[in-house]
Amino acid sequence: MAIRIKTPEQIEGIRQSSILAARTLKFLEPHVQPGVRTADLDALCEQFIRDHGAIPATKGYHGFPASCCISPNEVICHGIPGAYVLKEGDIVNIDVTTILNGYYGDTCRMFSVGKVSDYAERLMKTTRECLRIGMQQCFPDNFLGNIGYHINLHAVAHGYSVVFEFCGHGVGLSFHEEPEVSHIAPKNSGPKLKPGMIFTIEPMINAGKARAKVDKKDGWTARTIDGKLSAQYEHTILITEEGCEALTDVFGDF
Ligand code: MF3
Ligand code: CO
Ligand code: CO
Repeated sequence: MAIRIKTPEQIEGIRQSSILAARTLKFLEPHVQPGVRTADLDALCEQFIRDHGAIPATKGYHGFPASCCISPNEVICHGIPGAYVLKEGDIVNIDVTTILNGYYGDTCRMFSVGKVSDYAERLMKTTRECLRIGMQQCFPDNFLGNIGYHINLHAVAHGYSVVFEFCGHGVGLSFHEEPEVSHIAPKNSGPKLKPGMIFTIEPMINAGKARAKVDKKDGWTARTIDGKLSAQYEHTILITEEGCEALTDVFGDF
């Protein structure tokens, strides 16, 4: 299967779904507070998505049990909302994927729970910069691999490491389409970008070692092997004639 070039009608559908995914994160923001259970955030997330005529894509996806992924502190991604209670100083990722009229939008961001350490702030800031640096490589006829090439350079320059076991992905008509978007790649590698391609960039940046280990009991939760912090931000990106447009960048807050 080749990388799909989306039609104008498909792009409009994916845009509407992406806007809803972004609005879901905005809706959750004031609820991310010390003392809240991640399962309660998930319930709010599901209600908001369904109230807007959409479906949470993660629910039942390969058996994933929740409407979003919630990944605190050393959890890299795919955290299952549950009994964990957020506490002052935590950093937490919430990843929302919506299906609206059959179209997918996918975005995630970090939230600070109360006041967090400068160490955690710096990791989140560099991870936001990595996403933006990846987006700067999104223009027609550039190589896909240059996204990961430049993300990795930036992360390493700040003393961090890039998770290589999870990637961005084509998105829009289904959850995970071609291409796979690695956040660490050789310069000028991979296919060339073309207008109408839609994929995510979602760098996961670790304060310590790059390696991830998946929880043996739940089969989902991916943590850093050294227990150090990890951060992630994600946008759904459309390649345009001029460059790119982040369809989930509705509020401009990351
Ligand atoms: N939203 C995640 C992504 O950015 C995927 C979550 S899959 C799940 O690709 F099954 F863990 F929910
Ligand atoms: Co994604
Ligand atoms: Co996502």
